[in-house]
Amino acid sequence: MTRVLDRATQEALAARLRFYRELGLTELYRRPVDVSKFAEIEGEASAAASPQFHSSTVPQENEQISARKTVYPAPEIGAEVPAAGRETALRLIREDIGDCTRCALHKGRNKIVFADGDAHARLMFVGEGPGADEDAQGLPFVGRAGQLLNNMIGAMGLKREEVYIANIVKCRPPGNRTPEPDEANTCSQFLFRQIDVVRPEVLVALGATAATYLLGQRQPLAGLRGRVHSVRGCRLIVTYHPAYLLRDPRQKKEAWADLQIAMRELGLKTGNKGPREQGNEAAE
Ligand code: URA
Repeated sequence: MTRVLDRATQEALAARLRFYRELGLTELYRRPVDVSKFAEIEGEASAAASPQFHSSTVPQENEQISARKTVYPAPEIGAEVPAAGRETALRLIREDIGDCTRCALHKGRNKIVFADGDAHARLMFVGEGPGADEDAQGLPFVGRAGQLLNNMIGAMGLKREEVYIANIVKCRPPGNRTPEPDEANTCSQFLFRQIDVVRPEVLVALGATAATYLLGQRQPLAGLRGRVHSVRGCRLIVTYHPAYLLRDPRQKKEAWADLQIAMRELGLKTGNKGPREQGNEAAE
């Protein structure tokens, strides 16, 4: 049976092959194709139908998701980097990224936003992608959403410098749109390498885009919150994106409940009231 792949899948495959080539992998073998799997995907019957690609698109918080777009499976977990080598290892990843043109997002960016924080952090936050402030400064979460994130970190009894913060994509999507799957899939390969170097005990996915690409599957946020997932040897907690909390502050209580799960996983003392009750004007 001859099957022409749709454009999104073709682009995703091309990006994947480019990535392999950059890693020096030039010989690839294909598994025999189970045609029934294609039928399932085309019928949108199952997000997890394909062992190679999960059908996906990027949800807006609890919004329903159409099943057309792909999320790549994550690469294998990298070898453990000794604590003394972590800064260097992260620097090498940054050098690999270089003046990146791997996806279309490079066209509109000012600065690549690699990450911020401690290479030895026990806790790592992952957002979606830089906004205007981050694009200007080259640091993640430095705008209004960043203020709120700082307050959330403070409410956990931690300092921003003690955690590690990064995004699914490192260049600002035009108009702050959600990253396209080919952009997110291409860029998140570097994020996975960062995670493997830092090896945080706990990862917090901020919003549906982070959750989708970290977990490698699309699901509404509501079904992912409130439990501990496992990703790359780390425990993963899913919560709302701070920008969403700025739009709907009533959800802060829910987000605080999620962060308390993260705190328990880290053995941190829970029990204080969280950012909202502390009256963070900057966060409102
Ligand atoms: N939103 C994100 O997802 N990441 C940032 O760095 C800033 C805002």
